[in-house]
Amino acid sequence: MNRLGLGILGSGKGSNCRALLEGIRAGAVPAEGRVVISDVLDAPILEIARKFSVPNAYLPPGQFRTRLEPSAEMELVQMLRDAEVELVVLAGFMRVLKSPMLQAFPRRIINIHPSLLPKFPGLEAWRQALDAGETVTGCTVHYVDEKIDHGDIIAQREVPILPNDSAESLHARIQVAEHELYPAAIAKLCRESNRRT
Ligand code: GRF
Repeated sequence: MNRLGLGILGSGKGSNCRALLEGIRAGAVPAEGRVVISDVLDAPILEIARKFSVPNAYLPPGQFRTRLEPSAEMELVQMLRDAEVELVVLAGFMRVLKSPMLQAFPRRIINIHPSLLPKFPGLEAWRQALDAGETVTGCTVHYVDEKIDHGDIIAQREVPILPNDSAESLHARIQVAEHELYPAAIAKLCRESNRRT
């Protein structure tokens, strides 16, 4: 089976990246981590890439806070192409991707979000669910389009909200589910891509 070339983008602690690279190492995900890129110089996700011997790079994001400067986004496209990335995996990447990336990788960028989309897009989705008095929330893997936390849904997993949950305890429970769901969803996409070729 051909192994799908992944480019993983993240800004933070990288626990989803770690779960994915562990899944690849264990043979459960027929993919290869080709590159890990972060817009944050000292993000732990880059250290995780190094531990798994995956090429990694810091991308200076430019002057904007919530998106990449257009020249930086063009550079990102080039870095991913140079690494022969076939699927772009967002794992806690805190910037909204715009047309350079969306046009370069049509239906080839996926994200994981800590709610049952379309409910609670945006920041701290677990806190939004808690504040809304929900009893169930979860996580969603979806294709990335031009809207935030939007795009066709690939997979979802429910997570219960318990009576004494704090934002932190709920987020931790959702992350456990994410670490199972994301590698499993990516493995399925890899197998589907193999059937097409
Ligand atoms: C995850 O909770 C994911 O749902 C959201 O960002 C977080 C990243 O966490 N998009 P980590 O860096 O993978 O630990």
